[in-house]
Amino acid sequence: MRIDVVTIFPDYLAPLDDAIVGRARRAGLIDLHVHDLRRWATGVHQAVDDSPYGGGPGMVMTPTVWGEALDAVRAAVPDDPGVLLVPTPAGAPLTQRRVAGWAEASRLTIACGRYEGIDGRVPVDAARRGPVEEFSLGDYVLAGGEVAALVVVEAVSRLVPGVLGNPASAELDSFSDGLLEAPAYTRPESWRELDVPPVLRSGDHGAVARWRRDRSLERTAAVRPDLLDRLVERLGATAFDRR
Ligand code: ADE
Repeated sequence: MRIDVVTIFPDYLAPLDDAIVGRARRAGLIDLHVHDLRRWATGVHQAVDDSPYGGGPGMVMTPTVWGEALDAVRAAVPDDPGVLLVPTPAGAPLTQRRVAGWAEASRLTIACGRYEGIDGRVPVDAARRGPVEEFSLGDYVLAGGEVAALVVVEAVSRLVPGVLGNPASAELDSFSDGLLEAPAYTRPESWRELDVPPVLRSGDHGAVARWRRDRSLERTAAVRPDLLDRLVERLGATAFDRR
């Protein structure tokens, strides 16, 4: 998979040389390119922003610069614009389901805005050439899209075949079945007077699976009842479809 990130802070993406994504890049599984938006800026000051029409605080990122940048980056692979991802607090929430969809794409481009965001015409224009999805990490405001780009690249990469040593770990993730994961334990068996639950040492795979399912349900009900509601809705809909 090819991933392009466009940003005014390319150094912010340096962690993508490390850990799982770094390894996937070195193994040739992820072809990641980070571009400095200012390459496409013109004028002595290489400005990438301007004051907002209609007034208000802050600055808005200029469509002319973004337009040139995205045209150039998306054209890097002829006939495959891929999916353009735009992190913004105004986007629909990022979910594992969306991440899994993007992991199926042959290429992704991530446009990192700063200041008060990117001119509203940029995603509209980009959608003429390929799919565009805006997403938010959550109900809070970051200073820009770079952290969200790190999040998406890591979340997508670990679903790309060959990136995880053991692909089963992605299948067992929290959210992959709509529930939070049960707690996990390793040696020693007893630590600071806390014991590993005996069922996990019983060798009874059925009992272990039931124990994990129960803890998973318990945890989800306590911390994220909204996920349980959604799961019930989904299962209810499936049962209804089958009737
Ligand atoms: N950029 C600024 N705030 C953001 C958020 N909450 N999610 C994604 N991108 C953002």
